[in-house]
Amino acid sequence: MRVLVVGSGGREHALCWAIAKSPLCDKLYCAPGNAGIARVAECVDVTAEDIDRVVAFSTDQSIDFVVVGPEVPLVSGLVDRLEAADIKAFGPNARGAEIEGSKGFMKDLCARYGIPTAAYGRFDEPDEAKEFIIRQGAPIVVKADGLAAGKGVILCRNENEAFAAIDHIMTEGAFGRAGAEVIIEEFLKGEEASFFALVNGTSVVPLASAQDHKAAYDGDEGPNTGGMGAYSPAPVVTDEMADTILERIIVPTVEAMAAENRPYKGVLYAGLMIAGGKPKLLEFNARFGDPECQPLIMRLKSDLLEALLACAEGRMDDMRLEWHEDPALVVVMATQGYPGHYSNGSRIGNLERAGSLDGIEIFHAGTKADNGKILADGGRVLGVTALAPTVADAQKRAYQAIDLIDWPEGFCRSDIGWRAIGR
Ligand code: AMP
Ligand code: GLY
Repeated sequence: MRVLVVGSGGREHALCWAIAKSPLCDKLYCAPGNAGIARVAECVDVTAEDIDRVVAFSTDQSIDFVVVGPEVPLVSGLVDRLEAADIKAFGPNARGAEIEGSKGFMKDLCARYGIPTAAYGRFDEPDEAKEFIIRQGAPIVVKADGLAAGKGVILCRNENEAFAAIDHIMTEGAFGRAGAEVIIEEFLKGEEASFFALVNGTSVVPLASAQDHKAAYDGDEGPNTGGMGAYSPAPVVTDEMADTILERIIVPTVEAMAAENRPYKGVLYAGLMIAGGKPKLLEFNARFGDPECQPLIMRLKSDLLEALLACAEGRMDDMRLEWHEDPALVVVMATQGYPGHYSNGSRIGNLERAGSLDGIEIFHAGTKADNGKILADGGRVLGVTALAPTVADAQKRAYQAIDLIDWPEGFCRSDIGWRAIGR
């Protein structure tokens, strides 16, 4: 079949890498892709957000199946448009993707159906939001309702920080319309983990757990990023905990979405806070995590394309996915300056050699090719991913590969996996 993957990050490289290996795949395109993806797929010059052109390309090229990586096109209705054009797609439609696209919608859904999450209020008036903050006290969490590229959550230690967050989001409009409404939440303590499941309607097939490192620098210090590294599985998600997450959070949510006439289809990503053996929901995403997708996919032995297709077609009853027992870990290499200002175009050398180490795959997150050279083209640039018998071994392997990469303008954290290894 003819397959199109939409997106350009490390997540999409991992998806393309696995899909290209499937015997079901005759031809693979990626829009727009990157220099790493170009080695396994034909990249087309169409951005993920330009849903008109994604639909036009899919129609013109007789694409049989479209796999949508990022949230923005999902929330804007790419899957609705593809299905209207009779093209099969993996991912939720716009009504389903609202579970990520509006935190207020997600919180109200949890409240209506008894899904455990932090106590909250929703506000579209800054003064009312501030009164709520005074009543609740700090620490407290202020979130923009809509999509804000992972930057819309502000953890506030005291009332002044919370007021500043309200001004930043609502009055100064830091996230545009995404911040016209805010969610103010109880500050939860515990250990964070993510859990991924394939969903169609009321069928659920659990995938795996993961843990990521959002802070830019070692020791989880510095500004938040899209994720500087991750590993799968998360040791805190024991088999028993996975059952609890499914029973209390994933299945009730899937049933709630169906009951609300928004049957969910695609991958459901739950961000969780676990304390005292009990998981609470922090957020839902309507897509695979990035970089969590990279270790997750490296652990999957089954045919990814077949699994995504079966999910999209609602054939999930006999789905049996096989996984490597071994954990996998990804270390993200970013351009110096990220997540603040950085420059594109620096040259990255010795990638071939680093990528040929045993148990290593280097997924490109932001690169472009120039006359056979690989140039950095983004904040997060590479995801050096290792599969090994323990998280400590995977960490060692990933850093061995990184030591071989010649890229003075890049940096990475040196402690990815510390929590799992310290257990
Ligand atoms: P979100 O995008 O909602 O997952 O938030 C981003 C990050 O902010 C999460 O990964 C947590 O580290 C943190 N966070 C979000 N909500 C809360 C909360 N209610 N309590 C404590 N930390 C939170
Ligand atoms: N790594 C966090 C995310 O994909 O949202």
